[in-house]
Amino acid sequence: MVTSKWLALLAAGRLAAAWGTSTEDITYILPIYEGALANDSRSNDLAILGGMKTMLGTGGNYTQLGFSFSSWCMSRDQNGAASNYTFNATNLNYVLGLAKELELPILVHANNGRWADCCTSNSDGGWNDALLDEIANQTDTTQINSAGDSLYGHDFGSNYFSFSRYNAFYRSYKQRNLQASMSTIAAWAAENPTLFVGISLDSETLYANDASDYNPIVIQEWKEWMQNTGLYGPGGPYFGQGRVPALVAVSDFNSATGQSFASWDAVTAPAPLSEGDPYTEEWQRWRIQAIVHTVSDETAWIIEAGIPRNQIYGHQTPELEFYTFGDDLTTATAANGGGGYTAYGRAPLDFQSIDTPLRADGTNNFGLFELNPLSTDNTFSYDTLTTLWSDGAKILCPNAFENVTAKDQYSLFDSPTTGDTWGDNINAFLAAYGDTPRLLEPPAWNPGNKVFDLYDNFVNASESGPDNHLAANGSSGGVAVKTVYSAVGGVISYTIDLPALTESTQRLNFYAALGVKDGAGNGGGTCTFQASVTDSTGTETLLLGNGIIIPPTYWTWKHWMPVLSDVTAWAGQTITFTLTTTGNSYYGWTQWGSPAIYATPAGATSNSDFGGSNLALGKTATASSDDTSASGGGWSVSYITDGNVRGGTDGRNGWSSASHTSADATEWVQVDLGSAQTVGKVVLHPRSDISSAAGTGFPVAFTIYGSTDSTAWTPLSVQSSYGASIKAGHAEVVTFESAKARYIRVTATQLNGVGNESGYRVQFTELEVYA
Ligand SMILES: *[C@@H]1O[C@H](CO)[C@@H](O)[C@H](O)[C@H]1NC(C)=O
Ligand SMILES: *[C@@H]1O[C@H](CO)[C@@H](O)[C@H](O)[C@H]1NC(C)=O
Ligand SMILES: *[C@@H]1O[C@H](CO)[C@@H](O)[C@H](O)[C@H]1NC(C)=O
Ligand SMILES: *[C@@H]1O[C@H](CO)[C@@H](O)[C@H](O)[C@H]1NC(C)=O
Ligand SMILES: *[C@@H]1O[C@H](CO)[C@@H](O)[C@H](O)[C@H]1NC(C)=O
Ligand SMILES: *[C@@H]1O[C@H](CO)[C@@H](O)[C@H](O)[C@H]1NC(C)=O
Ligand SMILES: *[C@@H]1O[C@H](CO)[C@@H](O)[C@H](O)[C@H]1NC(C)=O
Ligand SMILES: *[C@@H]1O[C@H](CO)[C@@H](O)[C@H](O)[C@H]1NC(C)=O
Ligand SMILES: *[C@@H]1O[C@H](CO)[C@@H](O)[C@H](O)[C@H]1NC(C)=O
Repeated sequence: MVTSKWLALLAAGRLAAAWGTSTEDITYILPIYEGALANDSRSNDLAILGGMKTMLGTGGNYTQLGFSFSSWCMSRDQNGAASNYTFNATNLNYVLGLAKELELPILVHANNGRWADCCTSNSDGGWNDALLDEIANQTDTTQINSAGDSLYGHDFGSNYFSFSRYNAFYRSYKQRNLQASMSTIAAWAAENPTLFVGISLDSETLYANDASDYNPIVIQEWKEWMQNTGLYGPGGPYFGQGRVPALVAVSDFNSATGQSFASWDAVTAPAPLSEGDPYTEEWQRWRIQAIVHTVSDETAWIIEAGIPRNQIYGHQTPELEFYTFGDDLTTATAANGGGGYTAYGRAPLDFQSIDTPLRADGTNNFGLFELNPLSTDNTFSYDTLTTLWSDGAKILCPNAFENVTAKDQYSLFDSPTTGDTWGDNINAFLAAYGDTPRLLEPPAWNPGNKVFDLYDNFVNASESGPDNHLAANGSSGGVAVKTVYSAVGGVISYTIDLPALTESTQRLNFYAALGVKDGAGNGGGTCTFQASVTDSTGTETLLLGNGIIIPPTYWTWKHWMPVLSDVTAWAGQTITFTLTTTGNSYYGWTQWGSPAIYATPAGATSNSDFGGSNLALGKTATASSDDTSASGGGWSVSYITDGNVRGGTDGRNGWSSASHTSADATEWVQVDLGSAQTVGKVVLHPRSDISSAAGTGFPVAFTIYGSTDSTAWTPLSVQSSYGASIKAGHAEVVTFESAKARYIRVTATQLNGVGNESGYRVQFTELEVYA
């Protein structure tokens, strides 16, 4: 079912590129307009939206006006108790009809989470909370605090249902109604391919507060996730998505968290939270993982309903309140392809702290799904738009276009606090940027040709602070990454002659993966990473906004946070490039993983035609075993170098090994590059044909070998406990010191589970090799 819909979309030209959409060069400005209802006068709604086109302007071929609105399938748009609350498509079809009539591109907010019954002030519709209230009335459906009190509120953004996958009653209604509304949209999109931009997930999938969620089903699932049992064990629907490495015995849990529970049954969750304490951090890791699972599962449901993954976007509030809400940055990109967040009243400088990680994560395809600078300052408001455009955002949803008498502060025009400022600046931006294509946005795993390696050039850098040094292998998660080490407070500066670019579309980008050393930071506190460029006049420009904050949790997770920042502005100049860390010096070591500057190749002129240098593309691959009928079929070792990084396309998923009864088995896959070449990076694309397969089949321990003759093999990178947070469709990038090799082999020595099977396999969608 999924495959045939994908093929229909392919035929409609929606999946021309390996990532992103065929409209990848277009930036969309989609003001939120929630006002339209099926029982309105249609001519009145057409006049209002027509008025919006006049007031804002429609842009040009490359920056385009459309609008966005919500599907309220859990509240307003359902048929009532007598019909078992099935989805009612009347309002959705009505608004889709307006878009078609006005030829305005649309994005639909799947607004069925905590705001499921939200009445924005411009809504003239009645709201129906009967389904939400009935669900909240069942046992174990809502988020609860440690005293056992439900945190569900009847309205206004307080629909706090538990994120546990054991929340079956809630999930069955949600999946049913969400998929019904998304199928309606998918059918419309197939008929109107140029008008369909995408879907954003429920806005703000987060916890009510730091005293949530202590629902017993959450605690139960936490234990199964840690142990890789139950839902996460052999035969469970999420086998392969459990904690890596598993905490098998309760003594493993106790030593990881400093506790002394007598048995797994006795294990309780920490309350209240104590930042930096390993017990809290282990629980916090799970709280965030449960949100990642929630947004991943919703993404899977939407894909099954016929919407391509790369047109589904997160809709989070990253880094607002890490411990309170669990709104870690990884939750904003869980949709793979698209990341997304909400920003109100933020200064232009705030954005890059979020945009550079979003650019570097997965597919380099993100947007802002509620946006308002809330300012009367024209420069501030206009810079918000140009900053986000420069950072690579593809979709901006200004909140909100209203046509009611009593406007609120969010209104684009006639806001009681900001007047017409926001609307006027969107109007100016659409006029100025209408015919400017979106900047060339290379995928983070292939940012182009390396022009300066900060690791290789460390010997010539000037530095201050204690013990800056190089490490041949990083210690985060056992992942070997070329790492520049720096104690907190360290400053490392490079003098770099950046090359001039030969084509106007070419870009220069800085890439690095930020990390902290295992076990560091046991004193709590956070660490902030910053990179900057100082030009010949002495003007310093920060590249990472207000800095990237790495929470204490990350040393427990052994997690890297990649960043990608555009430095094209300094092409052809001699600059000083500075890496700085600040924060609690007790925190210990910080790591700049594989820091380098890349130039996109000449000849790549469009985002749907990005040039590349994947040395493995189309080359011959062989493997220790090749189970073409594994997990429902669609597998062959020849698919692992076919350029398809989105499993399911044309029925091709990738390569699967044979099944083993134990994780302790060895399987390998290798590619012949045709001749000996310089290699420094292998990109492994996890299984992505179904989102619920996130992590599934991705090996826990593996070694990447290189060889010039396929006889003598040299280890290039040794991974011992990989996969703390593998996501479906999310490229896993493994870098290592450059070597010459004709053959690259990935040998897995500890395999992972595969959802709903009882055995262990290795499965990859694609294997790529780069210099
Ligand atoms: C509001 O809608 C009416 C049509 O009903 C239109 O004449 C008017 O210009 C609109 N105003 C705004 C601010 O959208
Ligand atoms: C916009 O697209 C149309 C249709 O392809 C084309 O004729 C026109 O020249 C384009 N305009 C600009 C400014 O690129
Ligand atoms: C669906 O909603 C529309 C608009 O509210 C309503 O007129 C119609 O009766 C509903 N359909 C059902 C089956 O309840
Ligand atoms: C549309 O229907 C809702 C109830 O579903 C009602 O509250 C609203 O007043 C109606 N609007 C119009 C214009 O009739
Ligand atoms: C919820 O439960 C309460 C108490 O059992 C009951 O009075 C109420 O009618 C129920 N509401 C719904 C919507 O089921
Ligand atoms: C109502 O719908 C829910 C969600 O799909 C389903 O689990 C339940 O069995 C249905 N109830 C009846 C009586 O059909
Ligand atoms: C896995 O098993 C669960 C529970 O039996 C079922 O609901 C789910 O549909 C299955 N998933 C797949 C991908 O087969
Ligand atoms: C460091 O600088 C020296 C002197 O300019 C130069 O010879 C050498 O090649 C540089 N080393 C690196 C790794 O760039
Ligand atoms: C990493 O380097 C350390 C020494 O700095 C060494 O003991 C260790 O074996 C290395 N690990 C790998 C995987 O190469």
